[in-house]
Amino acid sequence: MQNVLVIGASGTQGRAQVRALGQAGYAVSVMSRRPEGLNFAGGPAAVRAIQGDLSQPAGLPAAVAGVDTVFLNLPSASFNPPEDILEGCRNLLGAAQVAGVQRIVFNASLYVGDAPVGHVAHDNRLEIIHLLLSSGIPATAVCPVIFMENLLQDWALPQLLSRNCLWYPHGSALPVSWITLDDVARIMIRVARCDRAVGKRLVVGGPQALRGEETAAALGRAWGRDIHFESRPLEDFADAMARLFAPDSAAGQSRIHADLLRVYRWYNERQPSPFTVDMSRFLAEYPMTLTSVEEWARQHNPFATVHEGAST
Ligand SMILES: NC(=O)c1ccc[n+]([C@@H]2O[C@H](COP(=O)([O-])OP(=O)(O)OC[C@H]3O[C@@H](n4cnc5c(N)ncnc54)[C@H](OP(=O)(O)O)[C@@H]3O)[C@@H](O)[C@H]2O)c1
Repeated sequence: MQNVLVIGASGTQGRAQVRALGQAGYAVSVMSRRPEGLNFAGGPAAVRAIQGDLSQPAGLPAAVAGVDTVFLNLPSASFNPPEDILEGCRNLLGAAQVAGVQRIVFNASLYVGDAPVGHVAHDNRLEIIHLLLSSGIPATAVCPVIFMENLLQDWALPQLLSRNCLWYPHGSALPVSWITLDDVARIMIRVARCDRAVGKRLVVGGPQALRGEETAAALGRAWGRDIHFESRPLEDFADAMARLFAPDSAAGQSRIHADLLRVYRWYNERQPSPFTVDMSRFLAEYPMTLTSVEEWARQHNPFATVHEGAST
């Protein structure tokens, strides 16, 4: 692996990969539909940014020219037409095959099992994984179950700040293997360098599976606060997310609401839970140190940010 193209580098997941690749000394290119103005703080000194759109096959040969490895990040199939995402992948594979790309590492961005489950977000990713792994290009799919960064997103942060409450749509008994975006990026680099990972769908999580109260306690220890956990009703969560992601479309809101409700019920009720990963086998095969919730929280204290903001 020498020259890596990150597709979807403008999102938080892709940005973490650009940063990690830069830190590991790789030459990095990024593809974006709007590359102008993209910058990568903490990333490599020089990033080749190229305009490209997966739905426009004519531009893809230029994006993959001279690239030996592609890190692929895709938008959500809950919020975008799934058939367009699939078509975009076919377009990419066509260009990558002609250009002689030697490796693709796909960040599925979520848990993907080995069979369809009837939820578009999952089943679209599964179809993409089948497409990639049967393309003839050596490929690996990394399926991170849930990002630690979610803990500080718009849907969780206000309740943390206002009442020291981790208000999250998980049942209180659900063990959750939170993983950082930086660790997902490091895993992608690790498996990209390893032939054993070719053809694999690797479900990955963080180093511990914590229940709600345990996650809240880890955050509390890092932030020096008494943080408690409350299980957020799924209806309320689905409602808030629908308004966040489709502010101007009643039809969009109702589709997202129904979709999230079904998928979060499944996340909460399925046994074993898709959010719980035992990483011991993975780590035996790919030794590395993963970041715990408490370690990550020490570096990301929202109360410190509020305090600093208030004093400026
Ligand atoms: N497991 C978890 O905890 C968790 C948490 C959050 C999100 N997710 C999942 O992560 C996935 C991505 O979500 P997100 O909100 O990060 O996505 P996003 O920001 O909407 O999109 C990710 C990237 O896709 C690129 N993209 C979109 N359409 C493209 C096209 N036609 N051609 C080329 N690039 C295109 C965008 O690049 P440009 O705009 O620069 O072209 C963007 O950087 C979703 O499946 C979501 O469900 C999972």
